[in-house]
Amino acid sequence: MRQSENSHTSYGPGTVVAAAQVSLAPLANRVVAVIGYGTMGRAHALNLTRSGIRVLVGSRPGSSRGELARAEGLPVLTVPEAVAQADVVMLMLPDEAMAAVYAESIAPHMRPAAALGFAHGFAIAFDQIRPETGRPCFLCAPKGQGDMLLAAHAQGGGVPGLLAVTEDSPPETWELAAAYALAVGCLHGGGFITDFRSECVSDQFGEQVVLCGGVIELLQAAFQIMTENGYGEENAYFECVHELKLITDLLHRYGVDGMRRKISGTAAYGGLTRGRRVITDEVRERMRGILREIESGAFAREFLARHADPEQGTAALAEREAASPLAVAGRKVLPRLHPEEEKHE
Ligand SMILES: NC(=O)c1ccc[n+]([C@@H]2O[C@H](COP(=O)([O-])OP(=O)(O)OC[C@H]3O[C@@H](n4cnc5c(N)ncnc54)[C@H](OP(=O)(O)O)[C@@H]3O)[C@@H](O)[C@H]2O)c1
Repeated sequence: MRQSENSHTSYGPGTVVAAAQVSLAPLANRVVAVIGYGTMGRAHALNLTRSGIRVLVGSRPGSSRGELARAEGLPVLTVPEAVAQADVVMLMLPDEAMAAVYAESIAPHMRPAAALGFAHGFAIAFDQIRPETGRPCFLCAPKGQGDMLLAAHAQGGGVPGLLAVTEDSPPETWELAAAYALAVGCLHGGGFITDFRSECVSDQFGEQVVLCGGVIELLQAAFQIMTENGYGEENAYFECVHELKLITDLLHRYGVDGMRRKISGTAAYGGLTRGRRVITDEVRERMRGILREIESGAFAREFLARHADPEQGTAALAEREAASPLAVAGRKVLPRLHPEEEKHE
């Protein structure tokens, strides 16, 4: 276990940092440059400001998000200008843009003792960025989406966070990371100590096999089977998609066993006896294969090479998915469920 030299807080794997243990002192009179004002950059910049930390936003010329930051009262500079004045440089850029922006606009302008911070482990875990030895480098990964972090902090709360520091960082980087997490609202329920690689691999695995991959394909398949067996698409949409939220809300609040106790006996028995027929050992083996692709870096290489491909890239794949019967049904059903919202994307 790695122990900080100047506090009683442990920062070893598996420990949880409580907000009450943490001081904002490492950020006192320091300037944080938030590079990128997307969903997460905006939440960090506004929450830090609310916590009394001086923030500069670094944005590329002509950026509409830079204009938004300015309209929200933040000082906006070019990326090199913001970096040159900062004690902490937070990289709030898309994973695929990190390496080039760091090499061209960040590394040459950083102050010698300035720290580098990330909200996700990708750039360090997969060698997109290699900070020089001795450069403080930390991860403060909120376990929540950016807008959620912003809203929770505005109400005096926050979200849990995963915290990590690179091996080559000075030991006091842990206190800086914890102070940063406190200021941004990432210690609600605790700051869970991890490392860049574990955070990144587990994040991608969860996204791919459950949250953004497995669940969506499960919904697609269930919707397809119901409609091809003559059940109306609205019925199918309600049963296979709409009600997912009810279950995830129960899971989120009460866990698996608590969720089972709150649903009907028929639903509990049906799920307990049929779920394992859907997710078979063969499916588990494919999940293991996906984990191996992530761990080996094969997924990272594929993503960096293909994400912008006109045929195989993210936008092209999302466009094809948007034409699927499930997505089409959603666009019909949702305006009726949310008539107050003018637009459904
Ligand atoms: N979104 C979330 O809720 C979430 C959750 C957990 C972790 N994270 C992590 O947070 C980080 C930021 O993610 P995000 O979702 O906030 O990203 P995003 O919404 O895609 O925003 C990216 C920002 O980076 C700027 N940018 C892109 N390319 C640039 C370049 N070449 N030079 C300068 N600025 C550039 C964009 O500016 P323009 O306006 O000029 O395009 C935009 O302001 C990532 O590490 C991500 O993994 C995000």
